[in-house]
Amino acid sequence: MQIELRKNIYWVGYVDWDVRDFHGYRTDRGSSYNAYLIKDEKIAVIDSVKAPFADHLLANVAALTPLDKVDYVVCNHAEPDHSGALPELMKACVNAELVCNEKCRKTLSMYYDTAAWKFRIVDEANRIALGMHTLTFMNTPMAHWPESMFSYVPEEKLLFSMDAFGQHYARSERFDDEVPLAEAMQEAKTYYANIIMLYGKPVGNVLNRAAGLDIAMIAPSHGIIWRKNLNPIIEAYKRWSVCKAEPKVLIFFDSMWHSTEKLAEAIYEGAKQPGVSVVKHDLKTTNITVLADETLDCAVLAVGSPTLNKGMMPKVAEALTYLQGLAPAGKAAVAFGSYGWAPRGGAHAVQDCLRNMGCELVREEPLQCQFAPAAEVLETAWELGGRLAEKALEIAEKKP
Ligand code: FEO
Repeated sequence: MQIELRKNIYWVGYVDWDVRDFHGYRTDRGSSYNAYLIKDEKIAVIDSVKAPFADHLLANVAALTPLDKVDYVVCNHAEPDHSGALPELMKACVNAELVCNEKCRKTLSMYYDTAAWKFRIVDEANRIALGMHTLTFMNTPMAHWPESMFSYVPEEKLLFSMDAFGQHYARSERFDDEVPLAEAMQEAKTYYANIIMLYGKPVGNVLNRAAGLDIAMIAPSHGIIWRKNLNPIIEAYKRWSVCKAEPKVLIFFDSMWHSTEKLAEAIYEGAKQPGVSVVKHDLKTTNITVLADETLDCAVLAVGSPTLNKGMMPKVAEALTYLQGLAPAGKAAVAFGSYGWAPRGGAHAVQDCLRNMGCELVREEPLQCQFAPAAEVLETAWELGGRLAEKALEIAEKKP
């Protein structure tokens, strides 16, 4: 079945039901690599798919037009999940020009043998007339890579937004009004948190610039296409791009002999205050993808680790390394944990990480216990939970 976005504009990508790992991001709902085709006096393919699925892309394009009739292949983003099939596509579309910006050309030439490709380098001043449709371009550097670019068809108010507004969300349906909206928004949030959170400022700039476009449809490079719920997804991007905090405390920890776990439980109980959402994850039963998602809109992080070999537990180190890379902004934080015989260990290492992440530390020193927490330490942990709840309310009220 051919999927038509607008008259003579088609989806020609690949739905990847089986992908479960996207450089560390757990894609439990699979993904899709969206490519599009505009059939006009001139024919343009927008973006491609991962290399193993090149045959599917070629078959989808060939079902709409002879491959030698393709005039342009637009590359909005050089990351291989969207460019991997370009060598096959350019080989098959013998008359096509590869349309991209100069940074993208350079990146593609480092990934692939592009010697035989005919490039048409475009910038924002350029337009490509296809007939009834025109292709225009907006550079969107660092949202998500330096060469990232949007393509826009003004006649259809259609934005090809590359990774932005995407989701790792395999579905047979292609449009937002065909799937449960909450599910699509959740996948968009998880995607933003894990892929784009680091680039909040560039994303904010892109949103400001894109506000000047009249947009009726957003066709990203992953997941479903937004044609009905444009306002919810754009407003969500505005909140996410500034890491707007909800009144929410996120607690995560690992534990050896349940002592750090008991501290986490006491903090959790103390933080359960009216108007505050408290989320608690034992790192033995969750993953960094979920943590990034929870971190995006939390106000306060409470991170626990016992001391292991003078440092923190490996799962805590993994989680903090990942979050540090994503650079969540505007969070308060506290470290806690149990130690055995050396009082400077896991919890202090966590505290250092939280400081390096730019978090406002709620306590100068971590909350610790030696071996198992005594009743008075659990009382202190409970009180700390209350302070974290107050802090979460305070941060959530602040304007970003
Ligand atoms: Fe979906 Fe940045 O690639």
